[in-house]
Amino acid sequence: MTGGLVIRGEIVSFTDDPGTAGERAVVHHSKGALAVAPDGRIAWVGEASRLPKTYRAWRTDDHAGRLVMAGFIDAHIHFPQHRMLAAPGRDLLDWLNRFAFPEEARYASRAHARRAAAVFLDRLVANGTTAALCFSSVHKVAADALFAEAETRGMAIVTGKTLMDRNCPPQLRDDPESAFRDSSALIAKWRGRGRLGYAITPRFAITSSEAQLEAAGALAKTHPGCLVQTHLAEQPREIEAVSALYPWAKHYTHVYDRFGLLGPRSLFAHGIHLNARERARLAATGSTVVHCPTSNSFLGSGVMPFSGRHRGTPKIAVALGTDVGGGTSYSMLATMAEAYRLQMLAGYRATASELFHLATLGNAERLHMAHEAGSLAPGKWADIVVLDPCATPVLAARHALSESLEDMLFALMILGDDRAVAATYVGGALQSTEKP
Ligand code: GUN
Ligand code: ZN
Repeated sequence: MTGGLVIRGEIVSFTDDPGTAGERAVVHHSKGALAVAPDGRIAWVGEASRLPKTYRAWRTDDHAGRLVMAGFIDAHIHFPQHRMLAAPGRDLLDWLNRFAFPEEARYASRAHARRAAAVFLDRLVANGTTAALCFSSVHKVAADALFAEAETRGMAIVTGKTLMDRNCPPQLRDDPESAFRDSSALIAKWRGRGRLGYAITPRFAITSSEAQLEAAGALAKTHPGCLVQTHLAEQPREIEAVSALYPWAKHYTHVYDRFGLLGPRSLFAHGIHLNARERARLAATGSTVVHCPTSNSFLGSGVMPFSGRHRGTPKIAVALGTDVGGGTSYSMLATMAEAYRLQMLAGYRATASELFHLATLGNAERLHMAHEAGSLAPGKWADIVVLDPCATPVLAARHALSESLEDMLFALMILGDDRAVAATYVGGALQSTEKP
């Protein structure tokens, strides 16, 4: 190809969190252009009228009237739960036993996992999600299948084999040795290949023995470039089970702490029912809590207030995830909308800009990929979502009343979903957004 691609539209991106840094953190070019070099990285961003001559001969995708933004990043999603949204559990543990575990057992089949990986990634891009931190199943073949499919598509996917050796059906159990061995083999094979990353993935304290959490800690120490992901303090009955299984632990967070699993590369899904000491420890270690609002309301888990934005609470780093299939939507727009609603219930009114930042650059920072993704800046991959503020009649009517960029983003967040995604680019390549 001679030259690259120019994408025109209303460009919106962030350099920082507008919730704390204010408007100066928002990059906005209402008649904007973005040049994508042939290698898939952003070469230039600005007002279209200032597009340098070199790029003017390049092929153009014109998205006039639409927003051109960094692709969404999902900080917590379960690949082997991609078919089982809307499963009505009595609570988390009932839901896991009745729906999640039987569905995940199918991922022992390489053929099933391969077919599923293609559908799963199709769904992400149809929703404008261009990167994600994903749970896989306990099976090595399932993580392998997801890595392979993501590599083919050039997507920034971070995943890992789930570690679980007790309190689950026998066909879903590994053991501390095989967990260590299989994770090490997957790290050696996939980490750093293309845009892939590895996350050491003990499911949660209930389904791992102490020996297995120790193995997870050893993996994290041996491979400091990997992320660590697990679940923490989602529901009261889960917390009771953890204190019965770990009688020596001062609290739930202490279990992970004891095995060296806290730190700036560790992401804990939910983190709802935490005491002050746990919050302080998570904050002090630079650990991240991943807010998963559609899951938290659906499973009746509770509200994780945005720590640090509420006075008097330590500043724990926060990310945002769909938690499909406990979560009820693949859409990060729907996820932001639910976050807005839950934070309102908790007495905090988030702005749309701050939630869009969280779903893009904020999540990129927590996933340690902000040098490559999360905003529209020269040198980063051209991972882009194009949003249509008039995608549905209700959105169009509301858009006609919008008085500011914040107002437009707010309407898209509350009323938008995959229908608002006009196009998705991964590394500058236009993806099919046919509904899979
Ligand atoms: N805790 C342990 N496993 C899971 C899971 O699959 N989903 C949710 N929401 N919580 C969990
Ligand atoms: Zn989860």
